This record gives sequence, C-alpha cells and structure tokens, in this order.
Amino acid sequence: MKRFDLSGKVAIVTGSSRGIGRAIAEAFVEAGGRVVISGRRLEAAEEVAGALRARGGEAIAAAARISDKAQLEALVARARQEWGRIDILVCNAAVNPYFGSLEGLGEEAFERMMVNNVLSNLWLARMVAPEMKERRDGVIIFIISIAAFQSSLELGMYGITKAADVALARNLAAEWGPFNIRVNCIAPGLVKTEFARVLWQDEGRRKRREAVTPLRRLGEPEEIAGVALMLATPAGGYITGQVIVVDGGVTIAPNTSPPPAA
Ligand SMILES: NC(=O)c1ccc[n+]([C@@H]2O[C@H](COP(=O)([O-])OP(=O)(O)OC[C@H]3O[C@@H](n4cnc5c(N)ncnc54)[C@H](OP(=O)(O)O)[C@@H]3O)[C@@H](O)[C@H]2O)c1
Repeated sequence: MKRFDLSGKVAIVTGSSRGIGRAIAEAFVEAGGRVVISGRRLEAAEEVAGALRARGGEAIAAAARISDKAQLEALVARARQEWGRIDILVCNAAVNPYFGSLEGLGEEAFERMMVNNVLSNLWLARMVAPEMKERRDGVIIFIISIAAFQSSLELGMYGITKAADVALARNLAAEWGPFNIRVNCIAPGLVKTEFARVLWQDEGRRKRREAVTPLRRLGEPEEIAGVALMLATPAGGYITGQVIVVDGGVTIAPNTSPPPAA
C-alpha cells in the first residue's frame, strides 16, 4: 500500500482557485490525483488549473457558485465528462458575510449562510455518493473552522454553520460507512488567506492572536493541505466521522484570564 498516493483518483475541490482549496488541489495533484479546480470566477480557476498542468499535473477548471444547486450539478457532470468518475469531494468554499451578534442577525443572512455553508455540502455529497457507493470507495471532506467549537461575539453565525457541518459529516459517515465512504472535517484555526484578511491584517490583532497560539504564529494553507491529503489517501483509511483540528494549538491553550469571582 502506498500511503499517500492518489494515482488514478479524481477529486473535486470547491473554492480551489486560491487559499486553502488551492493548496489542497496542489497537494492532490502532487500525489498523482486529477483535480477539478473551482470557484465562482472561471478565469481564476483556469489560471490555477493551467499552472498545475504546466507542472505536469492533471487539472481542469469549472466555475460553480456553491449556493446554486444547478451549478454544482454541472460541476459534478464536468468531472464525470472529463474523467468518468469522482473519488474525492472536498467541500472547501464557504461564505461569511456577517460580523456581529446573533441578536442582530437578519433571517435572510441566516438562511443564506446555511445554504452556502451547510446545504451545499449535503447537495454535493448526495450528488457524488451513488457512484462511490457502487465502487465501495469514496472520500468526502468538509473544511470547517474552530469557530464551530467556540462562542464568538463577531462570528457566531459562521460558527453555527460550521458546527452543523460537523454533525452533517458525522451522520453521513454513519450512513455511508458500510459502503466504505469516509466523511471527515478539518477545522483550521486562523490561516493567512484572503478570506480571513480582516482577522490578521491589523498588526495589533494579529499579534494578540499569535500570543494566545501555542505555536506563536498563524497557519499556512499548505498545513491544511497535508491533513486533507492524509484523509484522502490510504494513510487515513480508518478515519471517519471525525474533526481534525489544525490550529497551532489555539483551542488547547491555557486559560490565562483571571478566574471568575466566586
Ligand atoms: N482562512 C482562515 O483563517 C480559515 C479558518 C478556518 C476555516 N476556514 C475555511 O476554509 C475555507 C476556505 O477559506 P480560505 O481562507 O481558503 O478562503 P479564500 O482564500 O478566500 O478562497 C476562497 C475560495 O472559494 C471561492 N469561493 C468564494 N465564495 C464562493 C462561492 N460562493 N461559491 C463558490 N466558490 C466560492 C473563491 O473563488 P471565487 O472568488 O472565484 O469564487 C476561492 O477559490 C472556508 O470554508 C473557510 O470557512 C478558513
């Protein structure tokens, strides 16, 4: 058994035209996999797929907005048209349009975030599962966030969607485990990408974050990609229904605030 090998495998990675998704796509191609690069903008996805092909890898591009079921169906169809199969699905794209309290959250924003961050994952998982069941082989990965495990005065709704993804992965893992489909989540801490820029570009904010992170730095997209590769290959063959936290230790840091008054 080649532990970290993806030869012959086909993966769809949503949101892979930059950031964490791009790093995952690159890791998969390096391991011999074939990858569909996706995002809302086709040109950006084409650029990444072209760069991967220039290095001798196999990659194509297809645009899809995750809130649009028909576009996701077309994305899945494009992968099948090109390579005839989908072995790995990484639901990486997500949205976070709202910073603020749950008290002030509009219902429209609630619904929009649930559709983008949760329902789209269920849609995609159900689209690829039939062929995976038939082959008795498949891998599904949801990129969530440590926001799923913490309260937040700014990111509460985002955390709710990511917590729902944990339950979604757990349940799909139980339903499809007998078909050898493994479903897991990766929960990154703060990673230096466009998506999280507002959380790290201000120097004071970044320094405070680094100070409460045992590894004393933010994460890099490649450090999420390595875990995705492990989950997608035989190396992670007995892991299902789990969340792998990749956060530099921020969620296990000692609590340095004074104890509450008795
Ligand atoms: N960065 C962090 O600190 C961090 C921490 C925890 C979890 N995460 C999670 O990691 C995942 C990836 O985030 P990232 O930081 O890598 O983001 P990023 O660098 O901003 O990349 C986002 C990717 O998703 C695509 N995208 C954005 N909105 C989309 C939509 N509605 N439909 C389809 N594609 C869309 C973008 O391409 P287009 O613009 O062309 O659509 C791009 O390819 C997300 O699930 C996020 O919640 C990130």
